[in-house]
Order: sequence, then C-alpha cells, then structure tokens
Amino acid sequence: MIDDSINYDYIIRYLRDLLPKREGLPYELEQFAKEYGVPISQPETMKFLEVLICLGRVKTVLEVGCAIGYSAINFCLAGAEKVDTVELSPDAARVARKNFETAGLSHRITLFEGDAKEILPTLTGAYDMIFMDAAKAQYQEFFPHCMRLLKKGGLLVSDNVLYKGMTATDELVERRKITIVKRLRGYLTMLSEHEELETSVLPLGDGVALSYKKI
Ligand SMILES: C[S@@+](CC[C@H](N)C(=O)[O-])C[C@H]1O[C@@H](n2cnc3c(N)ncnc32)[C@H](O)[C@@H]1O
Repeated sequence: MIDDSINYDYIIRYLRDLLPKREGLPYELEQFAKEYGVPISQPETMKFLEVLICLGRVKTVLEVGCAIGYSAINFCLAGAEKVDTVELSPDAARVARKNFETAGLSHRITLFEGDAKEILPTLTGAYDMIFMDAAKAQYQEFFPHCMRLLKKGGLLVSDNVLYKGMTATDELVERRKITIVKRLRGYLTMLSEHEELETSVLPLGDGVALSYKKI
C-alpha cells in the first residue's frame, strides 16, 4: 500500500504519473516531508483541492492541521487569497512559518499555533472552504465550529476519512485504532445525514469527504 492510500498501488502510480511534477518550494517540501516523515496531503488529494480552488469560488480557506505548510502554500498558489491555518505542534508551526516566508506568502497565510479545540471557537471569519486535516478522532469535535465558520455555498473537505480502509470494514481494523475508526464512522454518518450538507465520500488518497453547505 503506497502512502496509506486505500487504492491499489498500480492505480496510485498511474494517477501520480499523470500529475505534473511539482517544482520549487512545493517540491522541496515534498522531499522534506518524505525525509522527516511529516504527514502531508497525498499528491492526488492535493491536486483535487487545487482544482476546487481553481473553480474560482474559493478565495478564503481555513485549514485544521497545517504541519509544515505544504497544503496552505499550494492553496495560495492555486488562487486562494487568504488562508488561515491551525497547528498544534510548535516544531511544525516554526517550520511552516519559515516556509511561508520563503514562499513570500506570510501576508496571505495566518498560522494559529495551538490546539484547534481551543482556537476554532475564537475564530470569526467566514470561509469559502475548510480543510479538515488534523487528528481524525477529533473531527466530530471540530465540526460544529467548522459549520459556524463556513459560508453558505462553502465546501468542507475532510481528509483521511477512510483511514486505510478501516472505516469501511472491520476486517482491516487494527485493535489500537478501534476508537478512531468508530469516531470516523460516526463522523461520516453525521456528514451524510446532515440536513444542511450535501456530502460525497470519495475513495481518493486515504478517503476524502466533500461536503457542500446548502443553508
Ligand atoms: C496530516 S497533517 C497536516 C498536513 C497538511 N494539511 C498538509 O497537507 O500539508 C496533520 C497535522 O495536524 C496537527 N494536529 C493534530 N491535532 C491537532 C489539533 N488538535 N489542533 C491543531 N493541529 C493538530 C498535527 O500536528 C499535524 O501536523
């Protein structure tokens, strides 16, 4: 299994071969992430998010889970005007800040350092897109804040929701992951049944839920 993706290796390799090779800082960040084991968005998921931004309606983005700033930088390069991003790890936040400076994007990306549980309730912006990409077991806890902060007509994109396939079948569930898997299942049921959302769960990367806020 490549990069914890839920798809067959030959499909992933083919999809990735189709993607234009990244250059400059995004490429360097991919190499850094590989070398130091930093979890960043998988190439095909990153491209999907960029296409959503390219559609033109996404100008403001909130990201829950910044890591070293790879996705936040790519959001801006794809056309987002303003990105707010939250990161718990001080080490990752320090590297991300440096990367935003190197990219010349510090004026467009604001990094909130700390636990999203504490930071999200303090935010007041209205966002066109929210990218949920932090601790999977906490998505449900972050969700009410995301709904409050998401504009009508906005997109909530939740990553890693199929969690190496474990969300879909008990046969794959590792014992120590049972709680996370149960919470992800609850989260996906909640998204799918939510009357204010239209949700499609895509078997892309490690599983991506795309939710459109109708009301
Ligand atoms: C998958 S990585 C984010 C990758 C990033 N979005 C990208 O694609 O480049 C998840 C990040 O979420 C952070 N995180 C985990 N729990 C968090 C929380 N409660 N609040 C804020 N950040 C959190 C982790 O430290 C980690 O850096």
